[in-house]
Amino acid sequence: MDTDLNKCYILAIESSCDDTAAAVLLNDKVLSNVVANQEIHQEYGGVVPELASRAHQQNIVPVVTAALRKANIDKKQLSAVAYTSGPGLLGSLLVGTSFAKSFAMGLNIPLIDVNHMQAHILAHFIDEEGYTKPSFPFLGVTISGGHTQIVKVNNYFEMQVIGETIDDAVGEAYDKSAKLLGLPYPGGPLIDKYATTGNPKAFPFTIPNVPELNFSFSGLKTQIMYFIQKEVENNPKFVEENLEDICASIQHTIVTILMKKIKKAVLQTDISQIAIGGGVSANSGIREALKNSQSSYGWQTYLPKFEYTTDNAAMIGIVGYLKYQLLSETTRYQNTETGAQSRLKI
Ligand code: KG4
Ligand code: ZN
Repeated sequence: MDTDLNKCYILAIESSCDDTAAAVLLNDKVLSNVVANQEIHQEYGGVVPELASRAHQQNIVPVVTAALRKANIDKKQLSAVAYTSGPGLLGSLLVGTSFAKSFAMGLNIPLIDVNHMQAHILAHFIDEEGYTKPSFPFLGVTISGGHTQIVKVNNYFEMQVIGETIDDAVGEAYDKSAKLLGLPYPGGPLIDKYATTGNPKAFPFTIPNVPELNFSFSGLKTQIMYFIQKEVENNPKFVEENLEDICASIQHTIVTILMKKIKKAVLQTDISQIAIGGGVSANSGIREALKNSQSSYGWQTYLPKFEYTTDNAAMIGIVGYLKYQLLSETTRYQNTETGAQSRLKI
């Protein structure tokens, strides 16, 4: 372990779904950020949990080795290991968890568990040249394949979910719509790509009326399914001939749903700093709408760097670093001197 207390090297591991990821951070700076995507799920149109855990088992050692090599540090320099403890697929989480535990135990350094959703939000605190971090309080909007939440972020560790989906997540709506269009998994980025050249008003879909700050996306998926079935009955080539317009219309509907609720949350909380996170925060439509909101509504918006949008371990590492600061110096030393394993849970 590096004994310079101002230098904290964190090895971070993320394996909650279908990406095996490892990163090394020096304090709040990312030295390496490695992700192995699992292409095996493409042919099934979604993540197959059993295949995901098996692929994590194959990937974890090479991914961690690559992260350490890219960061150009030896494992003995590490100050702590941070890992995703949940939420996620159980079998997938278990691979990362057991690896992280053994690694920390072998090196006799603290093991820090990290909540995946908290990490998507705190990714905004990674130190990046030219990137201004949000100040507290702000609204964190987590939009991914598993979640859709609006979170009031009071400080690093005090967060309150003030709205969430009552059924499907927004990423699921993208992926399921893409599947209906015959596109491979994950279809979100493809809908986004085709949407850029289509007409967003070509096929109007209904915006669901959901109370409070909550969301619903399952109705939209059903609406799209019936719409495509009906059109294909009249013209079997309908999807092929109208792919860009269909994608643009789906994207327009989803962005409208998200922006409507964010507007409501701003009014309700009187907080106009918005930071988005999760895979769907890579979406060009929502990024554009939020950028425009700076001039039209006077909001301050924070859009993560693309490599920190979809699942990655750098975001786990920043939370690990922030939590490591809470460990007293005595605890840090005790871990090395007595061999006691610290499991910090916040
Ligand atoms: O955060 P993430 O990597 O995994 C979860 O925690 O779920 O999010 C993955 C989700 C997938 O549903 C994927 O289709 C979606 O993010 N996604 C996108 C885009 N890039 C990724 N959805 C729309 N537009 C994109 N550009
Ligand atoms: Zn995620």
